Amino acid sequence: MDSRTNTGELSEAEIAARVEAILSKLSLAEKVGQLTQIGGLAFLPGPKPEEIIRQGGAGSVLWVNDTKTFNALQKIAVEESPSRIPLLFGLDVIHGYRTIFPVPLAMAASWDPSVVERAQAVAAKEARAAGIHWTFGPMVDIARDARWGRIVEGAGEDPYLGAAIAAAQVRGFQGPYIGAPDHVVACAKHFAGYGAADGGRDYDPVYLPETLLRNVYLPPFKAAVDAGVGTFMSAYMDLNDVPASGNRFLLRQVLREEWGFKGFVVSDAFAVGSLVTQGFARDGRDAAFRALSAGVNMDMASNTYLQHLAGLVEDGTLTVEDIDEAVRPILAIKVRMGLFEHPYTDESKLEQVVALPEHRAEARRAAQRSMVLLRNEGGLLPLSKSLKHVAVIGPLADSQEATEGSWMVFGHTPNAVTVLEGIRAKLPEARVDYAPGPEIRRDIPSWFEANMDPTAKKAPQSPEAAEAAFQTAVATARDAEVVVMVLGETADMAGEAASRASLDLPGRQEELLQAVVALGKPVVLVLLNGRPLSINWAAENVPAILEAWEPGSEGGHAVADVLFGDVNPGGKLPVTFPRKGSHEPLYYARNLTHSPEGHPMYNPRYWDGLPTPLYPFGFGLSYTTFAITNLQVSAPQVKIGDAVTVTADVTNTGAVEGDEVVQLYIHQKAGSDSRPMRELKGFERVTLKPGETRTVTFTLGPAELGHWSTNAGKWVQDAATFDIWVGADSRATLHAELTVVC
Ligand code: NOJ
Repeated sequence: MDSRTNTGELSEAEIAARVEAILSKLSLAEKVGQLTQIGGLAFLPGPKPEEIIRQGGAGSVLWVNDTKTFNALQKIAVEESPSRIPLLFGLDVIHGYRTIFPVPLAMAASWDPSVVERAQAVAAKEARAAGIHWTFGPMVDIARDARWGRIVEGAGEDPYLGAAIAAAQVRGFQGPYIGAPDHVVACAKHFAGYGAADGGRDYDPVYLPETLLRNVYLPPFKAAVDAGVGTFMSAYMDLNDVPASGNRFLLRQVLREEWGFKGFVVSDAFAVGSLVTQGFARDGRDAAFRALSAGVNMDMASNTYLQHLAGLVEDGTLTVEDIDEAVRPILAIKVRMGLFEHPYTDESKLEQVVALPEHRAEARRAAQRSMVLLRNEGGLLPLSKSLKHVAVIGPLADSQEATEGSWMVFGHTPNAVTVLEGIRAKLPEARVDYAPGPEIRRDIPSWFEANMDPTAKKAPQSPEAAEAAFQTAVATARDAEVVVMVLGETADMAGEAASRASLDLPGRQEELLQAVVALGKPVVLVLLNGRPLSINWAAENVPAILEAWEPGSEGGHAVADVLFGDVNPGGKLPVTFPRKGSHEPLYYARNLTHSPEGHPMYNPRYWDGLPTPLYPFGFGLSYTTFAITNLQVSAPQVKIGDAVTVTADVTNTGAVEGDEVVQLYIHQKAGSDSRPMRELKGFERVTLKPGETRTVTFTLGPAELGHWSTNAGKWVQDAATFDIWVGADSRATLHAELTVVC
């Protein structure tokens, strides 16, 4: 009997009772099946998924994305498998299912958790209608090195912003509780430290001292737990010489003992088997033992648990209780999701759900709010809608793939409105000419492209064809009143296995930009990219630059909305933009040194160019101007454990309505450890009419003022004096002080 409360949520006691009742009837082999997630890709070696499911060897399936197939596989599980336990279908739904939202890094640039929550609620609704129960998101890895390709999947460099965005995504995916209608279970990944890969090289080892782990890399994961996330994914790489998928410190001590996480942990794909490749486990048997003992409940795709766990119990290396402990939270999620009552998906639902007009509207709004205006000399933007002749130039201007961006849902066909289409729709009477210029592509193709879609790419453009395309593009720009250049990176240039050593515009894009600017026309640069790029030349020579990221299905409309002033951009950078790839990792929250900037003996660190940011964290312009004034702290002193209120007034001092993101930074001036020169501890995005003033309020209490102390080996709150700054980016100058006393 199902005893859901009137919100539809089951009580903890009911879930536990049902889990024990199911567990008591399972054989050891059936239990191991529940700990196994199999991949549905045709090219994977081994028995067919249908066969494994029929024998009870799978609790979950990934890499399938088709409602009919879900139902067919589910039928085998519930009618033919020995346990009759329904399957949990998981898939990467990272920034939209059919309606694609801006990439996560872009959504973080909105500094608007409600936008992110709504986006992931739409993604969840579409995915659930397709038959997906579980998404492998949010990806909450802090990334401070823009060379790392997966920076696109997260919320950028900052733990405070990252935690707010992580929690919003969990709420969006899961809804008010796990099992809520039209929602999916979320998965916080990749636990933990993946973003700190040596040299930004994807998959490479990570060395993180505990202070960085606790103060910077873990807070978004903790926020996901506090928001009720149902599952975690353990990362691939070694963290301080222990693979994350065999890491008892992370998976047991931190996640379960300290944070009280009650859900289950799935490994990253093949990561249990990879414990052998990584030189950690002796063989598959040892890998299964070490991953399970460390706290990985479910083995994604490597079938190592399936092959070895039963044997490990039979020879006494593991106990049945070890297995039961791992199975319980998986069954609990299945119970919560209502899979026992409703294992199948209505095959007619998806097309109705994806056609809902509010989904495209949400995607457009999210894209609008994600865009960051980096430069606008002489107020070139917004452009006039009475322009008669515009040229739209660049390899990404009419690319649906680049507009939707990295991490598409498995099997998804891009359906984006491109920037060219968006501009044409905005200027129905004008002549809008287009030329792509030379193509851009990776120097080394991605593994995914080569293995999963080897026919997708055309042969490379010849140098002659590229030169002809270059000349056509310049000629196309020559006669226009205004040129919009759409440059950046293709979708496969960021994401998994998509790290790069340089952050320059790939291919001949900068050369083309220079040739077009030399024509003497007004030029607007629209960037489509999933990571910071070093656009030094553009930053000095192109009057208007809009960072549009990879803006999703409605991206082209949203870009046109901003370029032509129907929307005033208000996003802010969630990552520092460096001048060079070799300056990475570069982030604002560094510690002071004996030679800080402004010191008479300041050493500029490199002798071949300043490593200061091209654009700082938190930066973004608007078509209006703002003044932030009247910083007040409710008390000059506060006792350890108590909180103060910080307020400031923000006024729209320009002529049009616009958004400002008011940001609060702190610095602990002395204490048990050195602390970063600035740390974000509050933000609020406000919309103001011309002349309007709003007071924004922040709270600083133990959560904001404390830190993990290397010296104390624990969380501390020091009696210390703090600088407080409030402003429009990480260089904020409006200053106050606060002293914390015993
Ligand atoms: C590997 C990726 O690292 C992870 O993010 C993803 O969820 C899994 N593959 C499943 O596709």
